[in-house]
Amino acid sequence: MRLPTRHLLGIENLHPRDISALLDLAESYALLNRSGKTRRDVLRGRTLINLFFEDSTRTRTSFELAGKRLGADVINMSVSTSSVSKGETLLDTAATLNAMNCDLLVVRHKASGAPALLAQKVDAAVINAGDGMHEHPTQALLDALTIRRHKGTLEGLTIAICGDIAHSRVARSNILLLIAMGSQVRVVGPPTLIPSGIEQFGVSVFHDMREGLRDADIVMALRLQTERMSGGMIPSAREFFTFYGLDAAKLAVAKPDALVMHPGPMNRGVEIDSQVADDMTRSVIREQVEMGVAVRMAVLDVLARTALRNA
Ligand code: NCD
Repeated sequence: MRLPTRHLLGIENLHPRDISALLDLAESYALLNRSGKTRRDVLRGRTLINLFFEDSTRTRTSFELAGKRLGADVINMSVSTSSVSKGETLLDTAATLNAMNCDLLVVRHKASGAPALLAQKVDAAVINAGDGMHEHPTQALLDALTIRRHKGTLEGLTIAICGDIAHSRVARSNILLLIAMGSQVRVVGPPTLIPSGIEQFGVSVFHDMREGLRDADIVMALRLQTERMSGGMIPSAREFFTFYGLDAAKLAVAKPDALVMHPGPMNRGVEIDSQVADDMTRSVIREQVEMGVAVRMAVLDVLARTALRNA
């Protein structure tokens, strides 16, 4: 398969055909991972640098694992130990990494657009691992793969994304991907946490959880991203849980086989109740993490091939 761009900066520029092809390749990597085998020839001799200016557990480790399973040399740069904390600018850091002949650069940054800026300055293929409130494309791809494995398709499904939509790059990338693939997307949350005008993306807005979850095939809970909030957007975490926390009573109005998802990290008792999060008959939260490795292997594989073709 080929991608239209050298980089993966967002879902925005992907065609549904590209999304399906990436998911198919990721599915084959999911099976390979379950068999315990690796494909170290795919990225042998290539260097992958994980450049994380923001905290991460799942995303960073899964890119590391993905790179290693495909045979790349993987370097993790966390910013507090690098020269960035000594005042080096993003672009100076980019120039340094470029001089090291890095092939694949995975970037997480608090500023929306930082990976796109880096992509203009380095020779490596840049992968956006989350930029501010903008996009987190590999999360949307792994969510889509998890859904597709259970429901067979994304088309025609009703998907409720709940909670802090306003500050969530996960919500934004998921909305773009799911609408492109023919899902019906609902966003559910208090008015303060839903951006005005979001309907223009093709989603429907609900402020009542029971209305928003009614007959949904998928219910996705999101963390309250307090680090990105400028003021009191919710009265208290306790009150938020009462109205918007995903618990068994609210989930009961969704379809009987509705799946529960969460990108992590979870705040139990705030946006999701432990009973629901740990219910293995409904929750696919662990499978999302597993699919994260497979999706990142597919993305690294395709971008390395795209780069080779353009060389
Ligand atoms: C998300 C992120 O960083 O955007 N986490 C993740 O990558 N799995 C969601 C979050 O931080 O709440």
